[in-house]
Parts: sequence; structure tokens; C-alpha cells
Amino acid sequence: MKCKKLYGIMLGAFLLSGHVFAASKASVNIIPKPNQVVVGEGYFVFSNGMTISAPAGSRSKALLVQKLQAAAGIGLKDVAGSKASVELSIRKAPELGTEGYRLLVTKKEIKLDAATENGLYYGVQSLLQLLPPQIESGQKVEANWQVPCVSISDTPRFSYRGIMLDCSRHFSTVDEIKKMLDAFALYKINKFHWHLTDDQGWRIEIKRYPKLTQIGSVRVEEGKPYGGFYTQEQAKEIIQYATDRNIEVIPEIEMPGHGMAALAAYPEYSCTGGPFKQPRITWGVEDDVFCAGNDATYTFLQNILDEVCTLFPSKYVHVGGDECPKVRWQNCPKCQSVMKANGLKTEMELQSYFTKRMEKYLESKGKRLFGWDEILEGGIAPSATIMSWRGEQGGIEAANAGHDVVMTPGGYVYLDHYQGDMLCEKVKIGGLSTLQNVYGYDPIPKAIADDKAFHVLGLQGNMWQEYMFEPNQIEFQIFPRVTAIAEVGWTKKENKNLDSFIQRIDNQQIRWDYHSLNYYIPMPEGNMNYIQFTDKVTLPFTTNRPVKVVYTLDGSDPTATSAVYSEPLTVDRSVTLKLRSVLPQGTLSPVRAIELTKTVPYKGLAKVDGLNKGMKMRYVKDGDYTSVNQLEAVAQWKDTIVTSINDFFKFKKKEQSGGAAILDGYIYVEKDGDYTLHCLADQFYLNGKLLIVNDKMKKNAKSDITVPLTAGYFPIKIVFLNRQYQGVVSEWMDARPTVRPVSNTNRDLPTVVYY
Ligand code: ACM
Ligand code: ZN
Repeated sequence: MKCKKLYGIMLGAFLLSGHVFAASKASVNIIPKPNQVVVGEGYFVFSNGMTISAPAGSRSKALLVQKLQAAAGIGLKDVAGSKASVELSIRKAPELGTEGYRLLVTKKEIKLDAATENGLYYGVQSLLQLLPPQIESGQKVEANWQVPCVSISDTPRFSYRGIMLDCSRHFSTVDEIKKMLDAFALYKINKFHWHLTDDQGWRIEIKRYPKLTQIGSVRVEEGKPYGGFYTQEQAKEIIQYATDRNIEVIPEIEMPGHGMAALAAYPEYSCTGGPFKQPRITWGVEDDVFCAGNDATYTFLQNILDEVCTLFPSKYVHVGGDECPKVRWQNCPKCQSVMKANGLKTEMELQSYFTKRMEKYLESKGKRLFGWDEILEGGIAPSATIMSWRGEQGGIEAANAGHDVVMTPGGYVYLDHYQGDMLCEKVKIGGLSTLQNVYGYDPIPKAIADDKAFHVLGLQGNMWQEYMFEPNQIEFQIFPRVTAIAEVGWTKKENKNLDSFIQRIDNQQIRWDYHSLNYYIPMPEGNMNYIQFTDKVTLPFTTNRPVKVVYTLDGSDPTATSAVYSEPLTVDRSVTLKLRSVLPQGTLSPVRAIELTKTVPYKGLAKVDGLNKGMKMRYVKDGDYTSVNQLEAVAQWKDTIVTSINDFFKFKKKEQSGGAAILDGYIYVEKDGDYTLHCLADQFYLNGKLLIVNDKMKKNAKSDITVPLTAGYFPIKIVFLNRQYQGVVSEWMDARPTVRPVSNTNRDLPTVVYY
């Protein structure tokens, strides 16, 4: 009580002495934006030998001391009590909850108080963000080690502010995870949802079932083994590391679907009994799931959960529950007999029965069940907490029915989506979630009744890692969007402001350079990556946040001092245009290269007699062809007529690779002009000229090309290999060609073809 009064007096003095806030005095770049900030005049300047007091063993104090020592070479001396220049104290302050803090900086002293050590930790994170960004340097650097005079009183809007990492699809090392946890902590992220098992890999040691990691953690892709897992000791190391940073680790063990890695090791817990060659090597969803009609399956999974419950201190265990195909259950005598015995009318109800058994088991261990929104179908388990990912509807239904929910709707917070134009980024699963989209998300949809809104615990960004072929792409996907998730989760709606948020990112980016994070920088967007033109071409570019763009026309990679883009570029010769964005501190984005080729227009034929709709297709059903050259060895082609390249798949089982096709036909364009050609086959020829090559990943239009065409008919040839590359099967791609005027961005509108 006494201490609270002291704070009140100090804050009063701070305001009365003319230190009334004015945003222009010093910019406060803290993310997430604190809920109450008053900026005063002047600065507190740190210097060597200043004193600090804090509760015994405070990790918040340790963090501040370590950062000042490492980056500034400033040592703080321990003293007891309120005479210290920097005083951290824990007080009774129910209004601050378990995470809130108050920070008062005057020219003379810094006072930080909270009701918990966690609150102090967030106060220190805010204080570090008031210091120059160089404070994140691991080595001594020059800077003005001062903090603007401020008074902050801050508590979070939501108690759940999470990030999920999918270490099943691609594995992150312990050090890679620690590096990310360090950076999450800067933004007061407090939950790490660890997706540890899936069809493509089992990543956590379970001592009772060693084959889970011996067999389930390794898949052989394109002839090479890929794998990794965490020993229980390593998991403990991560949990401790996260706990030290106020981050709770929530493990996910997927069931009853997404279990192929486990079933490859223990096929007896599937409906068919297997055998299964190995964990799934294709992304997507496996039909073989855990058998819900076999008591031994429940025992197996409960034994696994026993070890998981002991290892992870969180009160939550996530059991997945998403995307569980029901086809095996429909044909399984054991599953059908459990349905009959329990009066379950549908396989959805069987999933509900399965989840409720797991819920009871977890309750017996003192834990609560978390699940994806599919666990609502067929009847929700009474104490389940829902993660709403297929939009918001699951979250709305669950909250209105009195269940806790965490909002993770794919359209807003899926971190595997593109952040800008797909032509400017490495291949991703698809989708678009710009930083601005994420920032605009409100986790409490209007359709949740006011008196049920408290069931929304918060939000989470999901980093699905199928397309994270290089570890640093995970960081690229998460930063900067994690800062938007943090601010949505922490800052009250009325205190959010997009323009201010975007400005504050500049300061954070300098910090990320010190953390060696590979973060997304807005790219020069516009135009295709391959452009053919007749006379000259004018190319406008934009960026989705204000940022300087530089370019070269001599094939070299642009540097910070290259020519600055200020207006659309006109080019009249064949060159490679390279563009890059440059941040204020000089950090450069990846290079975007555009191949510009001067040519004569491709001439259309005025007339081709007797055309029908469709294409001629030569094909072979079998044989593994990974490059077009291998087709020379095909001894016997079959001939047919198809209306679409996709008709090839009528010869194959679902997702089955093998075989190839060569298709011939014509397309027609009505008017002379510049057209963009799109085709996700291996090769696309027009007038006998090879214009599109997709020799690795056939996905996402990176190879689209703009060409000049005169009106008329054009012979086209498409070479198509039914192959798998890096987890992607040809069947998923719509390989139909598109020819569209350059101004039309809809590449999904297929063009009519003739033969
Ligand atoms: C999910 O994205 N399948 C939860
Ligand atoms: Zn079964």
C-alpha cells in the first residue's frame, strides 16, 4: 500500500513538473504498444557504476544487467532498497494482474514495479525498447544509452499470445528454437505451441515406444533421408529456456488423424494393420489414421500422453483433432462395432467419442485438452479448449457454448502464407497475409455474445512448415508478422494504430539485425519475372510498406548505393533488371531479378480449319520421369483427346506419381497486344518456342511470362511429368494454360484450347 502511494506521488510530481506528454518529444517505439504512456521531457542517461535494486533472483534484473553490460559496456551495481538509480520491485497490485507492470522514468531514476516477476520481465522488455536498438547487440557498440522520461502503466488485453511452430514437417534445431524464443520474448509472446507430431515426422522421444523416433522421425525424400527429433532432455532444455522468458510451452501430439509417422512405426494401431513404408513424404493429409475401435490404440496413446504430461509443465496438452479422414473407420469392423456398441450414428461422433476418452484421461492427469475446431463436430468434449483455424466459426460456436477458445483463423494469422506478391518470394503453400492484414485482426468476432467474450483467451500465429525448405525461411515468415500478433494480443483495440505500428517497425528491424534474424522486407512488386517486348517496355513497381527501392540493369546485385527507383522504368534492350528494397539502416532485401528480352511479336495464324475444343494428348501411365530428357526413352506412347491436362489424372490413383504426357493444341487471342502466359506443367511452348519451364517446383506462377502476340491462333505444346518434388505432387497443380491480357491478374481463368 505504502509503495503504491509512493508511485502515485512520483507520477504526480512527474506530471506537475511540466513533463506533460507530447508525442513529438521522443518517439516511443515499443511493440506491443503499451496501453497507457505519458512521455515527458528529457532523458535518463545510463552510466557505469549506477545502482540497481531488485527482488532476489530476479531474472528481469539479470536480463537488464546483461544487456547493458554486453551492448553498452555499462555495469550496474547491486544495492538494496529504494535509493537505487534503477529500482525493480514486486508489490501487491491486483490491478496489474499477472503480467502488467508500471514503469516510471525520470531524469534521476527508473522505477519499475509489478505484482509478479513476469510483470517485471515485461517492464524490462519495454525499458529495453526505450533504449536505442543497439541494446540488442551481443557486443559493445556506440550509442546514446539513454531512455526518454516516460510513465507507463500497462496490462495485456489477452492472456494468450502465441506462436505455433510445426517441427514435424521441417525440423528446427534446439538452437534455432531458442533464437526464436529470444525474439518472441521481446514482444511479450507468452505461449509456444509446439507441433511435435504429424504424418511426416514424429519429433519427441517417448521412452516406452522407441520406434516412434527410430522409424517415425525419418522420411526418405528423393532418395535422401530427412529427419530429427528432440530427446526428452532437449525438450526440458527448451521448456526451461522458454519459461525463463515468460513463455509456456504447449505440446501437441496429433490424434486421431495426422498420425502416419507413428503408424509407420506401430502399424498395429491403424485400422488396416499396415504395413506402411515410412512417414508420409507428401504434404497434405493421410487417409490412414489411428483406429478408434481398438482399445489397444487408446492404451498406446495414453502411454504416450503419460510421458508428455510428465515432461511438459503446461496445464494444456493439445491433441490435434484436425483433418481426420473417416474412410478407414467406415471400412473397419472394430471401429464400426464400437460405433454400434455406443450408439454412435456417424464417424464424426466416433471422433467425438475418441476425443472425450482422451479428455478424461488428461483430466485424470490434471491436464486440460486443447484441440483444433474439428473436435466440435460430433459433439465437443466438455472441458475442451478450441483453436479456431477454419475461419472464426468454430471459435464463435465454442465460446457461445461456454468453451475457452484461441483464435487462429487461417485468413489472418497463418504465418505460412505469402506476405506480398508471390512472384517476389520463395515458394510457399499459398495464401496472402500481409503485415497489415494480421494487424487488422480482432480476435473477438461480433458474433460472440458480450457475456461470452471472456472465453476468447487470445490469438496465435501458426507457422506450418511444409514449405520451409531452408531453416531461415521460418524466421522470414514469422518476422515481422509476430509483432502484429503481439500487438493485437496485448494492446487494447482503441489504442491500436496501423500507421504508428508501421513506423515502429523501423526501430525493431535494427534489433532483428543484431539477432541475425532473416526477416521479410517488402519487395518491389509488379510485373512478371520474365518479360518479352517489341520496342520498349515501361515497368512500374510498388512496395506494400513505404521503403526505398534500388536497381541495376547490368546484371549485378543492387547495393544500398545503386540507382534509386523513383518512377516507372523504361527499358528498350534485352537486360536483366535487378531490384531490391533498402531499409533506413541500410539492410537490403533479397534480390528480385526480371529477365527482359527484346523480340518481334509472336504471329497468330488468321485461320486454322476444322478445330475442335480440347487437346491431343500422348501419354504413358507409368515410369518415374523427373526430367523432360528422360521422355526420349519412352518406347510406346498412347494417344487420346482431352479437354484439360487434368484429365491425365484419370489414369492414376489419388496423389500417385509416375507417367507423363505431351499435349498439342491451339489457343486463340482476339487482339494484338501484350499477354501473360501461365502454365504449371514442366514445359510450355508457343509457336514452337519454349517459353515456360517449371523444372523443380510446379507451383505458384513464378514462371509466368509476358509476351507480345498478334491476333490469331497459336500452336502450343505442353510437356507434363507426373512427378513429386519436395513434398508436392503434380496432381495438386492445375496445369491448364492461361493466356490473359497483361492487365488481367486472374491467372486462374483457364483459356479455351483447341485441336
Ligand atoms: C490446421 O491448419 N490443419 C490446423
Ligand atoms: Zn478402426
